[in-house]
Amino acid sequence: MSEAMGEESEPVRAWREPAGERLARWARTRTGTGGLSRAALRRAVPDHWSFMLWEIALYSFLVLVVTGVYLSFFFHPSAQPTVYHGSYAPLDGQRVSGAFDSTMHISFEVRGGLLMRQAHHWAALIFLAAVLAHLMRVFFTGAFRRPRELTWVLDFLVLVVGMVEGLTGYDLPGDLLSGTGLAVVEGTLLAVPVVGTYLSYLLFGGAFPGHDLEARFATLHVLLLPAVITALLAAHLALRLRHRHTQWAAPGRTERNVVGLPLRVYAVKSAGYLFIVAGVIFTMAAVAQINPIWEYGPYRPDQVSSGSQPDWYMGALDGLLRVMPGWEVTVGGHTLVLDVLVPLLAAVGLFLALGAYPFIETRVTGDRREHHLLDRPRDHPVRTALGTAWLSVYLLTLTGGANDIIATHFHVSVNAVTWAVRIGLFTVPAVVHTVTRRLALGLQQRDRDMVLHGRETGIIVRLPNGGYTEIHEPLDRRRRQILTARKPPKPPEPLP
Ligand code: HEM
Repeated sequence: MSEAMGEESEPVRAWREPAGERLARWARTRTGTGGLSRAALRRAVPDHWSFMLWEIALYSFLVLVVTGVYLSFFFHPSAQPTVYHGSYAPLDGQRVSGAFDSTMHISFEVRGGLLMRQAHHWAALIFLAAVLAHLMRVFFTGAFRRPRELTWVLDFLVLVVGMVEGLTGYDLPGDLLSGTGLAVVEGTLLAVPVVGTYLSYLLFGGAFPGHDLEARFATLHVLLLPAVITALLAAHLALRLRHRHTQWAAPGRTERNVVGLPLRVYAVKSAGYLFIVAGVIFTMAAVAQINPIWEYGPYRPDQVSSGSQPDWYMGALDGLLRVMPGWEVTVGGHTLVLDVLVPLLAAVGLFLALGAYPFIETRVTGDRREHHLLDRPRDHPVRTALGTAWLSVYLLTLTGGANDIIATHFHVSVNAVTWAVRIGLFTVPAVVHTVTRRLALGLQQRDRDMVLHGRETGIIVRLPNGGYTEIHEPLDRRRRQILTARKPPKPPEPLP
């Protein structure tokens, strides 16, 4: 009997737990998170390409952290003047800042330094583009509705903090372009009534450009803001696990279930995605030059290069400043610099409207129900029209930010471009709003016709009375459900 038992248990003894499983069991027993992670890994995650936009943002942020840490080994955040004697001969003997000198050293002497710098810069552009695209996806599909308003606010803050992070980043090398950008920041701060001068002194540590600028910006850029972004992204992930992912309407999908891949499968797929994002960024870094500071030269307060352009995510704010007429008024002996104040207030309004939108919509519509199925943009014509109008303002101001480049490339007057943007800002959003709303209503009407009468087949038959009619085909179940999903039969119960 014991022999038989021994024979039976042999295969069990021969099986050795794989190293990964042993490590996971070790961690589980030490941290007591086994139940939690097992439950989390069993969750279903809906799969759709548009849900990947947030992942692109997350993975490009990881690339930013890795490349940023590499750069910080060699970068010296110093405003101290020094004489450049590196291997880039045209600048030899020039007076530059310590920051510029070290960035030149990273670019020309440090092994892999230029690749890392370029990857860092490209990743920054992609990170913010992915965050904005993700916000737009969430907006147009109504994924921000209860219970995900907080997730929307977190993502919105990632956009705003990411913009400041990018600004402090491209101002670090101390080149002519970044110095010009900083001069704009200084001018904007000084225009703030009453506290403007204090704000400027606080940021620059004295009269611009001051000696503390590099050190302060580096602390903000390398330490503080990345920590804030990491916290915001982590909070997003935690809330996503808490509330599960939204999904598109389809047969079998309701407000109370989730149809998708198990999280453990999704996680593997997503990890593959990390390598694709990193691969694309590093390929771009290897083949496409970005921010060649040796062409701009070191910053000199008395110089501005022509065609100075900020990174794209600051372009809209720059555009607002560029298209505003140079107005000033004097009130009670104090000068109000309207050509800076008005763009500043407009920018705050533009972004606050975006960040607060979920709360505005809830207040206006009174819809406080939980929503887990996504809307098709056409099903909410007013929201969709407001979104496209917001985008049109954003794109117009971005165009305003490129007024000099457009003027030189298309051989038109820079004043003509500026005036076109000014007029556009007052007319285009209204036109875009109206056209989008009409389009959405038209598409709704078409959907309604399809549900009621079926799909047009293009086959015309002649009737016995001599008339002609087109044969309509009934919709399949999936299509029918998608078209009718916007009206749930009764409000869903709040989830436990
Ligand atoms: C959302 C996150 C981040 C964004 C948007 C961002 C953006 C940028 C940009 C646009 C530059 C200018 C690059 C250039 O010279 O062409 C820069 C420089 C730099 N960044 Fe970041 N960065 C981020 C995160 C980080 C992190 C996490 C670190 C370090 C831990 C870091 C360290 C640095 C350093 C040391 C430089 C100066 C070196 C150089 O300019 O070559 N960055 N950053």
